[in-house]
Amino acid sequence: MENVIILAAGKSTRMKSKKTKILHSILGKEIINYVVDLAENINANKKILVVSNEYSDLENLLKDRVEYSIQKEQTGTATAVSSSFEKLIYRGNTLILFGDVPLLSKETIDEFIKYHKEEKNALSVLSTIIEKPFSYGRIKRENNKFISIVEEIDASEEDKKIKEINTGVLIVDTIKMKEYFSGISNNNPKKEYYLTDLVKIFSEKNEKIGAYISDKSFECEGVNDRKKLIMVQNILKENINSLLQDNGVTIHDTNSTYIGPDVIIEEDVEIMPNTYIFGNSYISTGCIIGPNVSMENMNIGNNTIIKDSSLSFSSIGSNSTIGPYAYVRPDSNIGNNCKIGDFVEIKNSVVGDNTKVSHLTYIGDADVGKNINFGCGTVFVNYDGNKKHRSIIEDDSFIGCNVNIISPVKIGAGSYVAAATTVTEDIESGSLSIGRVRQENKPNWNKNK
Ligand code: UD1
Ligand code: CA
Repeated sequence: MENVIILAAGKSTRMKSKKTKILHSILGKEIINYVVDLAENINANKKILVVSNEYSDLENLLKDRVEYSIQKEQTGTATAVSSSFEKLIYRGNTLILFGDVPLLSKETIDEFIKYHKEEKNALSVLSTIIEKPFSYGRIKRENNKFISIVEEIDASEEDKKIKEINTGVLIVDTIKMKEYFSGISNNNPKKEYYLTDLVKIFSEKNEKIGAYISDKSFECEGVNDRKKLIMVQNILKENINSLLQDNGVTIHDTNSTYIGPDVIIEEDVEIMPNTYIFGNSYISTGCIIGPNVSMENMNIGNNTIIKDSSLSFSSIGSNSTIGPYAYVRPDSNIGNNCKIGDFVEIKNSVVGDNTKVSHLTYIGDADVGKNINFGCGTVFVNYDGNKKHRSIIEDDSFIGCNVNIISPVKIGAGSYVAAATTVTEDIESGSLSIGRVRQENKPNWNKNK
């Protein structure tokens, strides 16, 4: 495919939102990311995203994965397409995708491209049959021959009964598209320039056109408002959960389990209720995840158990237990056979194999070695109000309860830090460090006070 144009400049009026609808997420992934992933998968020479004047949020998200074409005034899907004319390659075909139709699969688009080429069409539309076609453009046929698309707002009572709808996806001969474009007018109640009018124009010029009916109608749903957003999310959620079940994952409550489309889960993983797994997470065999876990971009080794916790952009090794009530923040790397217990927060830190952090502890900006035991209530004091500092604790150390580690310090291998110590200086390997006020007892104080 020479060009792919993704339309994303609409006003999102029906979404009633401060941000464009295509930046809303479905299973943790922005709608537009589904469509750009699709465009990348079909090997297009040019990928152009049509945006409105305010597109910095989109650009921050997508960077140079697409070229941006600005549609200055939102006067309809036709003007959106024409705003990209100077960027197009003028040979072969252009595929037009809508930024608000996230579930289309590569297989469906490949079938559609194949149809367009085999039929030698000048213009092809992807259509589908939907039981409740309200709000979609309807495919009009005469003696079964596709002749035009009529929008909901312009449709007669008879037209409204048509269940074959326009998905918005279109393949068109690029040179002919440009040639006939000036025939599109805004002579309709919405005073918009409809891309769909191209169909009638091509048909009148006796160009060969056709509509390819996809039997995967669920893939074709467009997200215009909040209800559709959740409806589409539910469709995808059910498909993903069902596929995972077929592949050997136990999901105890599919209703409250939300797994993103780019997550990989191996066989014999058990997912307990109320669990959210998003981003590019990878969960290895034998893990038990949940209940009440949310994670994004996590890599989890074999047989690890995670419950009642929140984790992101980090990795955890095999045979570890996390939670209840642990908080693993970005850039943490937790090893094998570790225990990260209740009310433990870990950020931007390494925790070596066999290390136990059982309760009420904050590890921030630290390199923590292997076989270390933390008592209850250790705090890495990593922030001086201005800068973050990093500390190191070497292997086989023992950190008593209620210890403050004022970073940056280094605690050598095999050291013991006594309970209630505030560590402000490095500790040599094998030492015992005690830093607390000596206890003073005053006998009979209560009687004599
Ligand atoms: C559109 C189609 C309709 C089809 C439906 C499928 C037209 C006229 N109508 O209707 O036939 O059944 O999609 O989901 O094409 N956009 C721009 N600039 C604009 C207006 C829209 O870039 O000026 C973009 C939007 O961001 C969106 C896409 O084009 O991604 C479709 O626009 P939308 O307003 O959602 O059209 P629908 O009413 O859904
Ligand atoms: Ca739409």
